[in-house]
Amino acid sequence: MNIVILAAGQGKRMKSALPKVLQTLAGKPLLQHVLGTALALQGKATKNGPIVVVGHGAAEVKTFLADVSKEDSAFEKVSTALQAEQKGTGHALLQALSKLDVQEPTLVLYGDVPLISKKTLSKLEKLADGVRGKDCALALLTQNLANPTGYGRIVRDAEGSVQEIVEEKDATPSQKAIKEINTGIMVLPTNSLKKWLKSLRSSNAQGEYYLTDVIAMAVKDGVPIRTTQADHEFETVGVNSRDQLAALERVHQLNIANQLMDAGISLADPARIDVRGTLECGTDVFIDVGCVFEGAVTLASGTKVGPYCVIRNSVIGKAVAIQAYSHIDGAKVGNQSVIGPYARLRPGADLANDVHIGNFVEVKNSKIASNSKANHLAYVGDSIVGSRVNIGAGTITCNYDGVNKHKTIIEDDVFIGSDTQLVAPVRVGRGATLGAGTTLTKDAPANQLTISRAKQISLPWKRPVKVEKMPLAKKAIVKKVSAKKSASKSSKGKK
Ligand code: UD1
Ligand code: MG
Repeated sequence: MNIVILAAGQGKRMKSALPKVLQTLAGKPLLQHVLGTALALQGKATKNGPIVVVGHGAAEVKTFLADVSKEDSAFEKVSTALQAEQKGTGHALLQALSKLDVQEPTLVLYGDVPLISKKTLSKLEKLADGVRGKDCALALLTQNLANPTGYGRIVRDAEGSVQEIVEEKDATPSQKAIKEINTGIMVLPTNSLKKWLKSLRSSNAQGEYYLTDVIAMAVKDGVPIRTTQADHEFETVGVNSRDQLAALERVHQLNIANQLMDAGISLADPARIDVRGTLECGTDVFIDVGCVFEGAVTLASGTKVGPYCVIRNSVIGKAVAIQAYSHIDGAKVGNQSVIGPYARLRPGADLANDVHIGNFVEVKNSKIASNSKANHLAYVGDSIVGSRVNIGAGTITCNYDGVNKHKTIIEDDVFIGSDTQLVAPVRVGRGATLGAGTTLTKDAPANQLTISRAKQISLPWKRPVKVEKMPLAKKAIVKKVSAKKSASKSSKGKK
């Protein structure tokens, strides 16, 4: 099946420099949602991928397509057709005409209707009864709305057969009362479509070439017109303004929250979670309020995530406690580990089982073996840390010399006293102890105490006494008096 996605419109009401279809829902451009569904619907077998009709912000949309193709090769099949001037939905589709395979039916989607499901589109495709080489029926996705204002209305005859679609601005009062609207999504017989699009006229209230005018043409040509509706109203909701985008985001997030709960995950509040990617969970996972999950995140069974955590592209083991306000990005966390509150795991943090990373501790590109702890205010970067290591408060691996990054190796059973700096490259031998305040610039031998510290001395000392400050008003008087005195002095001098 050919798939054309109309995305040339400006989206004026967004008041944004970004083309509307690149605004994000659940962290992903609207157009990417639609394209993902379109590609899934076409499957691998289809040679010609979806065609996006671009216009406003065409260059940005093309850049986005190039970028997303680098991440996911499925998108390489997507092509574009340029609609230089936006003269209506019929005119938009006309720009893609030369790219359509006439042997196949054509599905029209909108780039700003992001949540249309593959299931609904399959249903619509089947309804059109498209068989390769044979002209299919015309299948329309409609919707009954309590308030149909602004939409094209589906006009039926006494038998209930669709006769035409009338746009709001061209509708008579009785047509305006019709509650069944055109979602804009339809499957059309491509051969006839070619003919119909070429005979469209713009003699209507908006002076546009309406795609919807092909419906009356199909009736005239005796092409059967069938209608169906989506399972959920949100599937056909379009985004025109920021409030609509925010409202659809909440609907989408609530759907995700409900899916998570159906799968056995506990959420403190399904209205206060944001998943911008994929979240895979084992059983008995608990997620507190305000958490954001980005990219691909896995939480194994029994893990608990405290309030206001951000977790991106990470794999979290079983029965892990991630406490409030922790930020985890590109990390691996072993079973039964305890992270936070206020911990930061950066890309390449690879923690084994039973590791404790406490408040204001940052770990980057480091492997930490089981049962090791860094509980307070530390930076562990480009390091390999053994088992049962204790990293004291305020410890820093000085991994960066201003040009290059260097490795710190801390072997098993090491104890690092508070406020220690490990100037990399450096190695701490097994069982070594580093005294508090040490600046380690050379390797520390195993099983010994290494300490670098200025010798402690004590001197007699008297604390300075506080000098009383003069009030401002008094200061001013003193100034005046001293000015007078010096004036009289200098005049005396002249005599
Ligand atoms: C259209 C339908 C209307 C339907 C409504 C559903 C027509 C004439 N009307 O109206 O029946 O109820 O959608 O939301 O089809 N676009 C282009 N180039 C253009 C014009 C539009 O690519 O020249 C794209 C837009 O970017 C958008 C889509 O087509 O993705 C719909 O355009 P829009 O202007 O929103 O159409 P509506 O007036 O809402
Ligand atoms: Mg619209």
